[in-house]
Amino acid sequence: MRLFLFLLCKNDGSYIDLTAGLGGHLKAFSENLSKEAKLFGVDRDRAAIKIAKEKLADCPQQIEIAEAPYSTIDKILSEFSVNSFDGILLDLGLSSLQIDDSNRGFSFQGEGPLDMRFDPQLDGRTAGNLLNESSEKELVDIFFTYGEEKQARRIAKAIVMERQTAVLETTTQLKQIINSVIFPPYQNKTLARVFQSIRIALNGELDELKTVLPKLVSLLNQSGRLAVLSYHSLEDRIVKRFFQQMQKGCVCPHDFAVCVCGIDPSFKILTKKALIPSATEIETNPRARSAKLRVAEKL
Ligand SMILES: C[S@@+](CC[C@H](N)C(=O)[O-])C[C@H]1O[C@@H](n2cnc3c(N)ncnc32)[C@H](O)[C@@H]1O
Repeated sequence: MRLFLFLLCKNDGSYIDLTAGLGGHLKAFSENLSKEAKLFGVDRDRAAIKIAKEKLADCPQQIEIAEAPYSTIDKILSEFSVNSFDGILLDLGLSSLQIDDSNRGFSFQGEGPLDMRFDPQLDGRTAGNLLNESSEKELVDIFFTYGEEKQARRIAKAIVMERQTAVLETTTQLKQIINSVIFPPYQNKTLARVFQSIRIALNGELDELKTVLPKLVSLLNQSGRLAVLSYHSLEDRIVKRFFQQMQKGCVCPHDFAVCVCGIDPSFKILTKKALIPSATEIETNPRARSAKLRVAEKL
């Protein structure tokens, strides 16, 4: 796969998957690198880390995985035996474990509690809290901003009406409310957009991404590479703009005749356009169909 060709440029280097999930990428890193390489992982989801550690137990390399939001990478670095990397991966979104387990509440396909936390081991706010406690305007903003849902107002209104008689507790309740105001053939796409928007808002996904990207520049060794796999346009736009800014360096206003900020470029973009999966890749992994890969190299 092209990701490994781009990312794994030093056979005995140090690599980190900041979204280790079930360890699929770390396993593939292990198979494509020498046993002297060092592998690291981060994830917010304790259940995923447990599975990843079991999957990676037989790998010949040293592998360390930490439980934390990736935006705190600078703070948790002391838990690792290295403090810079030859390759960093961000594989955004959610894992198959999270989608397929109806108890996590991420999917409208099965009945489950309205949870949607990436880190349910913490005592944080759930999707149910968000839906029951947000104002109608806040709900409209969430559906519109993070789901680009045109019927945001109609859906938020229906939720607020329903809340007057019942507490929203399950994915089925939410699905029924949405289907009561959106009609076939638009229901499934709308459900997907609304569920996505709640998940993004609840887990602060875009803020996590915006916070972590600048921190990664100083964590890369010279010629080290940062690869980001994103699954919707909101994430991809953030990554694209960040890469462009890092490649440009200078932050002086356009009408300045000479640069006064003195900021040098720190990245060379290796993927002029985002790379998308081939038909064969989509056939083997249908969930990858919306993936976009961007890679940059530290100068
Ligand atoms: C697409 S999956 C990663 C799959 C993984 N790379 C693999 O090969 O199995 C995304 C993972 O990112 C994790 N995640 C999402 N946001 C996170 C954050 N801010 N900090 C840490 N992990 C996060 C999720 O819990 C999920 O396990």
